[in-house]
Amino acid sequence: MFVKLASATPLGLSCQSVEVEVDIHKGQTNLSIVGLTDTSIQEAKDRIHSAIKNSGYNYPFNFRILINLAPANVHKEGTAYDLPMAAGIILAQSEENLVIDDTLVFGELALDGSLRPINGTLPMAMFAKEQGIKNIIIPTENLAEATLINGINILPAKNLKQVIEHLLKKQIISPAEKIIFKDQTGADTPFDMSQIKGQEFAKRALEVAASGGHNILLSGPPGSGKTLLTKTLPTILPPLTEEEMLEITKIYSIAGLLRYGLIRQRPFRSPHHTISNVALVGGGKFPRPGEISLAHRGVLFLDEFPEFSREVVEALRQPLEDGTITIARARGSMQFPARFILVASQNPCPCGYANDPQKVCVCLQSTLTKYQKKISGPILDRIDLHVEVPRLNFDKLSNTKNSENSEIIRERVISARKIQQQRFAHTNIFTNAEMGNSELKKYCALDPESLNLLRGAVEKMHLSARSYNRILKISRTIADLDKSENISINHLAEALQFRIKN
Ligand SMILES: Nc1ncnc2c1ncn2[C@@H]1O[C@H](COP(=O)(O)OP(=O)(O)O)[C@@H](O)[C@H]1O
Ligand SMILES: [Mg+2]
Repeated sequence: MFVKLASATPLGLSCQSVEVEVDIHKGQTNLSIVGLTDTSIQEAKDRIHSAIKNSGYNYPFNFRILINLAPANVHKEGTAYDLPMAAGIILAQSEENLVIDDTLVFGELALDGSLRPINGTLPMAMFAKEQGIKNIIIPTENLAEATLINGINILPAKNLKQVIEHLLKKQIISPAEKIIFKDQTGADTPFDMSQIKGQEFAKRALEVAASGGHNILLSGPPGSGKTLLTKTLPTILPPLTEEEMLEITKIYSIAGLLRYGLIRQRPFRSPHHTISNVALVGGGKFPRPGEISLAHRGVLFLDEFPEFSREVVEALRQPLEDGTITIARARGSMQFPARFILVASQNPCPCGYANDPQKVCVCLQSTLTKYQKKISGPILDRIDLHVEVPRLNFDKLSNTKNSENSEIIRERVISARKIQQQRFAHTNIFTNAEMGNSELKKYCALDPESLNLLRGAVEKMHLSARSYNRILKISRTIADLDKSENISINHLAEALQFRIKN
């Protein structure tokens, strides 16, 4: 007879509903699956056959089975339809037609009929709630993330048999309680700004970056503390809001990297420079978020920036501009969010000692030029703060005086962010770094004295128009840190120090 079950498929961070229709009637044994499916779904045929048999149910021989995944214009792939398809085949062998539309069913089947976890359970549970679907059956291992959603019955199942018994109302699965796990932390050990000796200039730059959401480039010889400085950046960023936590957790759910429920800390991602394009920006056969989306609302650290392949670096352009990444696919495109603070670090040259007062650089002039040219203008253009991190002398390193800890700096960052929140209320801008020309004009007016200073700097330092805009944005952030409505000459003077090649 005929059975219809409700399922869904993730599409970017949202979902699309899919109906699984199963019809069986007498004829030569055959199973066909239609509805714009790819090979991964066709492969499910054998898996379903084994799972049904090994769960103690009949596989209908001398029947023709037709499975339709609707709507037919949505491309379907992956293993999440294993469960509704197998359940449909079992249920369709009864004498009555059956339509179950108050329960969302999905999951991958093992050959013995047990359920395997699925990526993207959290967005699926959210989707079910939005659609007013009352129940959602999920693989037990996905329970932690699914229970983050309130107001919907989460029914964890271990295997196919349990699902069938439930759908036939023979043995009802009881809704799961909310699970509270301990944090899934991004960083292994928390660093604190007070551990860093000296480097006041770089620390201040990080404070400005955190406050205004500015990207930052750290240049300095090996061992000068670039990596250490960057690792402290998440500790001075404002805590995440509930909404942001859910958004980040959704991304990790789709990437299949979630095991412990809600992510409460800002992500810190530092991919190696040999990373591929797809791993950085996302994509692949079953589109997965890349490092830039995993760093969403946190920090993306690209250490040894000039070593990254040019193609990979260029792929950062669109996300740095838009805060999202669009992944083009054969059938339509999809989007993942990717709004992060980029911290790039570089040595001054391949050997690391160009311009060093004590050590001698052994690089050829030609390699030096090539190295410095590796980061393209358009990318540098999107990095507001360019900071030199010098090697510390012995006095500074052996200094035992305590400096400010992260918590104090974070308070200042939070109040600067509040000012920006009010300034950009009712727009889709969050921080000063995202200001376009019209906002620059509106919020970054200079008094005549400051204008004079800036004019002088532009002429003397041969600054380009883009450097000019960058200086204005940084000045705005420095003024916000100072709780000042107007940009004063002091703010501008400080901003000019974060200069700012080209
Ligand atoms: N200012 C500093 N205060 C304390 N330790 C530092 C400082 N700068 C560097 N270090 C230590 O020196 C080592 C190298 O620093 P690192 O951040 O890896 O340098 P880089 O990334 O610039 O090559 C690390 O063990 C770090 O803890
Ligand atoms: Mg380093």
